[in-house]
Amino acid sequence: MLDSEIKQQVREFYDQVGWQGAGAGQYQNARYEDLRPVACEYIHRCHLRVARHLVPAGKYLLDAGSGPVQYPEYLEYSRGYQARVCADISSVALQEARQRIGDRGSGGHGLFVVADVANLPFPREAFDGVVSLHTIHHLPQGEHIQAYKELYRVLGVGRSAVVVNGWDNPLLMRLFVTPARWRKQAFAAGRRLLGRDAPAGKPRKARIDPDSAEPKGTFVSKNNAARLKREIGTEIPLEILVWRSVSVRFLRAFVHPRLGGRWFLRLLFWLEERFPHFFGENGQYPLIVIRKA
Ligand SMILES: C[S@@+](CC[C@H](N)C(=O)[O-])C[C@H]1O[C@@H](n2cnc3c(N)ncnc32)[C@H](O)[C@@H]1O
Repeated sequence: MLDSEIKQQVREFYDQVGWQGAGAGQYQNARYEDLRPVACEYIHRCHLRVARHLVPAGKYLLDAGSGPVQYPEYLEYSRGYQARVCADISSVALQEARQRIGDRGSGGHGLFVVADVANLPFPREAFDGVVSLHTIHHLPQGEHIQAYKELYRVLGVGRSAVVVNGWDNPLLMRLFVTPARWRKQAFAAGRRLLGRDAPAGKPRKARIDPDSAEPKGTFVSKNNAARLKREIGTEIPLEILVWRSVSVRFLRAFVHPRLGGRWFLRLLFWLEERFPHFFGENGQYPLIVIRKA
């Protein structure tokens, strides 16, 4: 598939599926997040990690691949800024974002620009802060470096950008999730042997693949830490810290309210705070800080 076709497919996906409403003020896209109460404190605190690396106040904050600014924590990043510039290839994302945060000229906080993160229509050093969350992995692999360079180009001197994207098959998730999958497969095989499987032909419920925080049906190309350092870290100064070390699959499989799930996640968050580089490189989601000296 050509790079332009990939982008078109991603845009259509978000216009037609990802940013369609799913009820209760949420989008279809949110089905790929763990929204259970047991996980909500942990997820909330992970979201807030982004703000630590941004200057707290400034003129413009760029949100590259903003989507509709779907979680309330996202608003914290631009609270001290005059405006949040939402850039996205999906016009539905931007319409939704406008509804949520309002136009800067009419008492709101946002400016909205249809734009490709690998080719940003902004001058050098235009932004006091930059975030790009769960977006660069939608680009063809060859364009990742271009996107990072674009974020760096538009970032002001002495300022920081934060990028979050999931790793491809990280060590910690391999250690925990793969054995859980084997157990499930062995259990299903046992049921089949005992003749207790669902009768042939009986329709099964459609299931979301919780392995991924991204909907299936759209293009995703993930990196690993070694490759990011080799291909991008040699061109742009970056530091890999932890955003959230566990995937949605892990949360759903291992974290339950009756099994001390909340306490487990508190312990995990504490460990992540102590060893941010280890969990950033080996957990599911790194927080990549780019500083422009
Ligand atoms: C997984 S969503 C994340 C949205 C938001 N950052 C968040 O964390 O909720 C990915 C977003 O990136 C946008 N996107 C994908 N490819 C893009 C590109 N090349 N340039 C700009 N936006 C892009 C999609 O339209 C979508 O809104």
